[in-house]
Amino acid sequence: DWSMAEFRRTKIAEIREQVGSSRVICGLSGGVDSAVAAVLIHEAIGDQLTCVFVDHGLMRMGEAEQVVSLFRNHYNIPLVHKDVSALFLGGLAGVTDPEAKRKFIGKTFIDVFEAEAKQVGGADFLAQGTLYPDVIESVSFTGGPSVTIKSHHNVGGLPERMNMKLVEPLRELFKDEVRALGRELGLPDIFVGRHPFPGPGLAIRIPGEVTRERCDVLRKADAIYLEEIRNAGLYDAIWQAFAVLLPVKTVGVMGDGRTYDNVCALRAVTSTDGMTADIYPFDAGFLSRVATRIVNEVKGINRVVYDYTSKPPGTIEWE
Ligand code: XMP
Repeated sequence: DWSMAEFRRTKIAEIREQVGSSRVICGLSGGVDSAVAAVLIHEAIGDQLTCVFVDHGLMRMGEAEQVVSLFRNHYNIPLVHKDVSALFLGGLAGVTDPEAKRKFIGKTFIDVFEAEAKQVGGADFLAQGTLYPDVIESVSFTGGPSVTIKSHHNVGGLPERMNMKLVEPLRELFKDEVRALGRELGLPDIFVGRHPFPGPGLAIRIPGEVTRERCDVLRKADAIYLEEIRNAGLYDAIWQAFAVLLPVKTVGVMGDGRTYDNVCALRAVTSTDGMTADIYPFDAGFLSRVATRIVNEVKGINRVVYDYTSKPPGTIEWE
């Protein structure tokens, strides 16, 4: 891709110019944006960059391992992996309000990151994988000027508090352009093409209280759903697909026994920027295959439903 090769050269020069000989710290979220930003900045300034991966334990199946191995093995970029799942899940105990979850996760993320940044010592710059839609949405997010529908923690707060300057090389880009840049930088397709994932992770896909057990149940259902989507060759046609674990139990029957277990909702949408979205119209055979597998293979789920709501009036996530 010619334009991305050009963008890469220009940005590398800009990053070097902006940063000089200072140190930069970059928080990885496990997502494509922060990974692409980190790899690009590493290409520009090498070991002046330190990457910190704050692992809140709310990622999808195998995701944390993938990030760590991508950086350490594939790129040989030093990475501090901070497993703080106990801290996050402890703090989420008893929290059911969606915005309270976001606020706690955002704040705790910043606390942990700030402590790590101090350990690294003397970084003047904070790198972020902020995209153009993040820049817009942090000003007004779908609902108009003064209405906050959902607070995102990607933008704001941290740099001022830490008295750091920002390096945001992806600020002008949309998601599809970030993916093209990621490919240009040699990130594996499976990583680059990955569906967007919210900062608060599985916590906002578990309405009601989030526990480690519920995260584990959701991760299994979600992995089956995504595996079937990949096997059917549909992954790239979909913007985001994920399972949601509902705080609702229903009665079922399995073998000759009665079950009383959780409902799992499946969501899949097409979109170009996440601002509006249409449901993905799976065929009935596909959905019943996924439902059967989830109920048979995931202990704790006995019913699966499909979400048919577009955005607007729905949002993509359930919280
Ligand atoms: P909604 O649910 O508002 O989501 O239609 C639009 C896009 O934003 C993602 N999303 C988030 N991303 N922190 C994030 O980093 C959040 O709190 C958050 N909430 C939603 C969502 O996955 C979708 O891509």
